[in-house]
Amino acid sequence: MKQRGNMKILDGDVMIGDCSLRDLKDKYGTPLYILDQEYLEDVTHTFINNFKSNHFETVVAYASKAMLNIPLAQVLNQEGMHFDVASQGEIYVLNQANVPMEHLYFHGNNKTMDELRYAVEHGVGVIVIDNYQEFENLELVLKDIKVKQKVLLRINPGIETDTHKYIQTSSLTSKFGESVYDKKTRALIGKILQSEKLELKGFHSHIGSQIFDKTSFFDATKAVFDFYKEIEEAFSVSFDYANLGGGFGVYYSEGDTPFAMESFLKEYIKLIEKEIKDRHLKISKITIEPGRSVINDVISTLYTVGSVKETYGGKNYMFVDGGMSDNIRPALYQAEYEALVLSQNDEKDKYTVAGKLCESGDILIEDIELKKAEKDDLLLIPATGAYTYSMSSNYNKALRPAIVSVKKGKDKLFVRRETFEDLIVRDLRL
Ligand code: LLP
Repeated sequence: MKQRGNMKILDGDVMIGDCSLRDLKDKYGTPLYILDQEYLEDVTHTFINNFKSNHFETVVAYASKAMLNIPLAQVLNQEGMHFDVASQGEIYVLNQANVPMEHLYFHGNNKTMDELRYAVEHGVGVIVIDNYQEFENLELVLKDIKVKQKVLLRINPGIETDTHKYIQTSSLTSKFGESVYDKKTRALIGKILQSEKLELKGFHSHIGSQIFDKTSFFDATKAVFDFYKEIEEAFSVSFDYANLGGGFGVYYSEGDTPFAMESFLKEYIKLIEKEIKDRHLKISKITIEPGRSVINDVISTLYTVGSVKETYGGKNYMFVDGGMSDNIRPALYQAEYEALVLSQNDEKDKYTVAGKLCESGDILIEDIELKKAEKDDLLLIPATGAYTYSMSSNYNKALRPAIVSVKKGKDKLFVRRETFEDLIVRDLRL
């Protein structure tokens, strides 16, 4: 198992941020998401300090869909992150965390009228228009409002990416944005440029998620800037902003080959500078939107083993006290994770780690060699920060786990565990 951040593996225990996982289990119970806060701060600094240029302003906007809660937003805001949001709910949480609303980019292929109104009224910095209908909707929302709203148009540069089909966003049939090849995209740009209510600052592109090939990002950037050039010439305008999206891959298990972020960001900036210069563009602000590569590695999930059971057909299960309700990614994307049993026992066995939910697909890890485990042992699955809590559910009325932050020997609860009362607060009685 790959070790990360401030994690130390001891004989029968693991320390994260100098806090014992056995102590955290006693204090908060399991399943438990454990956030290595110092590591998060380091990762944030890596992004902000290396995605820097002398030629234009740079912005790192955390894709809040990967995981969002008030204390996490407060930490990231303090460290200088801006934010990508994809719903009114995400704007609401960030607003409650006192994040400046002008630091937000509002995405989505089908923002409702209410969401657009809420965003405009709360001063969301940039709204990223997805399609023609949304342009019309935004005009309607702004009809009686004095402000001129800054917008980007989401374009699809049509770059192939080697990632799971559900998280590709740059195929010619993707539901997101308008294609750079499509004539109607130009017509839409013409309309936005004529609008008295909208200020078109440039374009946004996001080619997909969990991508390891640097050249996909570089090719997309070139295609995006080719588009800038073409549109600037066609309409005799020049644009200020470009938002190049996120999607940088992380290590979950053997075979995953993420690039070293620091050197990648430096190389990326150099390429962006060159491509802008070559085309004589006047872009003054470049934004990237990492989600997974910020939050995934810095969080681990701790489970308690309930039992071990070998089936008649020979499958050896390790049952834990969570499952697809706190991490649906293995079931949904066949995502693979590594794990560690906290035990002094040196014997090993092969297990399929399954949750406690009523579904055969409720599997966290298929066929993994681990230390021999028994009832009450602890199982740690590291690198579970991204798209786990944010895609969690109350299936079988499972309670969502707590999220606790650890740093330099101190633990701090970020999100409390759900209670049984939480399960019925929205139910009315007949
Ligand atoms: N920007 C936009 C417009 C996005 O749609 C996304 C992710 C990101 C940035 C951040 O991408 P990241 O850096 O996290 O790869 N639930 C899936 C991932 C869905 C990604 C959606 N969009 C999963 O668990 O793998």
